[in-house]
Amino acid sequence: MIARRIAPLMLVLALASVARAVEPAAPGLGYDHPLTGRVWDVAQDRFVTLDALGTAVSGARFVLLGERHDHPEHHQFQAWLLRRMVDAGRRPAVAFEMLDTTQAPALARHLAAAPRDAAGLGEAVGWRAAGWPAWRLYQPIADTALAAGLPIVAANLPATAARAVTRGDLAALDPALVRRHGLDRPAAEQAALEEEIRAAHCGALPDTLVPGMVTAQRARDAEMTERLVAGQRDGAVLIAGAGHVRTDRGVPRVLALLVPEARVVSVGFVEVAEGWTRPADYAARFGSGPHLPFDYIWFTARADNVDQCARLRRRAPADPD
Ligand code: HEM
Repeated sequence: MIARRIAPLMLVLALASVARAVEPAAPGLGYDHPLTGRVWDVAQDRFVTLDALGTAVSGARFVLLGERHDHPEHHQFQAWLLRRMVDAGRRPAVAFEMLDTTQAPALARHLAAAPRDAAGLGEAVGWRAAGWPAWRLYQPIADTALAAGLPIVAANLPATAARAVTRGDLAALDPALVRRHGLDRPAAEQAALEEEIRAAHCGALPDTLVPGMVTAQRARDAEMTERLVAGQRDGAVLIAGAGHVRTDRGVPRVLALLVPEARVVSVGFVEVAEGWTRPADYAARFGSGPHLPFDYIWFTARADNVDQCARLRRRAPADPD
C-alpha cells in the first residue's frame, strides 16, 4: 500500500532528474527547440511521455538504445531507461558496441574482482585505447547495471577483424557467422547501405572502399546481435550507435531473423535541428523515405554545433587541405 502511494512520487522525482539533465547547459544547442526532451512513438504517430517510454522498454525482451557516441546526455538517458527497467523488476544483460570480444576476458576479470566498480571498468578493459569517447560519459550506464548486478556483455567484433573485412578479407570472421548472415553476398538493401556509409563519411570515400565497409557494418550488426541473444539473461539491452539500431536494417533486422518471436524496442536518440519542428522532418536524415527507422525517437539538444564533415575532412590523411 505504502509502496503504491510513493511510487508516483518516485516517478515524479525520476522525471525531474531527467528534466534537470535537459535544462539549458549552453545556449545555441537547441535546448529551447520545441522537440527537445520529447519522445515520438513512430508506430502510433504521436508523442508519448517519458513514463510511457519507460513502460514500453520495461516490457521488451531486447531494448536497443541508439546514441551519438560523444553526446553525454544520450548516455544519461540510456542509464535512465535502464534504471526504469530495473525499477520495474527487470534484470537484463547490458551489451556494449564499444566493448569487443577480445576485451571479454579483461571485463570478466574486473567484474570478478570488483563487481560494483563501474568507475574502474573503463581502465580495466582498455576503453581509451580503443578510441571511444571518455568512459566517464558511459559510466552512468555501468553504475546502474552493476548496482543491480546485471551482466555486462562485450558485443562487438574486434577492430582488426572489421578492418580486414573492409579490405575484403572475410577469413577474419567466424565462417559460421559469414554463412548464417550471408556476409559473402551483397545485402538485399545493399544500395541503401552503401548510400548510408557514403553519407556518414561525407561523400569523401573512394567508391572502391564502400562495399567492404558495408560488409564490415553488416558483420558488426551480425556479431552484436548474436552476442546479445547469447548473453541475454532477463532479456538484454544494447548500447550502440544509432545506425546500428535502425529498424529497417542493423540489429533489429538480424534479431527478427534469429528470434522472430521476441519483443524488441529500438530507441533512437536524435539531436534536434533548427527549423525542423515536426518528427517527420527528420526522416530525410536517415534516407529511409518517409519512415523514421526507430520504434521511438527521443529528441535531444545537440552536443555541439561542430560540422562533422569538416571534422572528418581534417582527420582524413589523404585530404589535400
Ligand atoms: C563523423 C563521424 C565518423 C567518422 C569521423 C568516421 C571515420 C572513420 C574512419 C577514420 C574509418 C577508418 C577506421 C579504421 O580503418 O580504423 C572508418 C571506418 C568505418 N566507418 Fe566511419 N566514421 C564516422 C561515422 C560513421 C558512421 C555513422 C557509420 C555507420 C553508418 C560508419 C561506418 C564505418 C564502417 C562500417 C567502417 C569500416 C571499418 C569499421 O567498421 O571499423 N562510420 N570511419
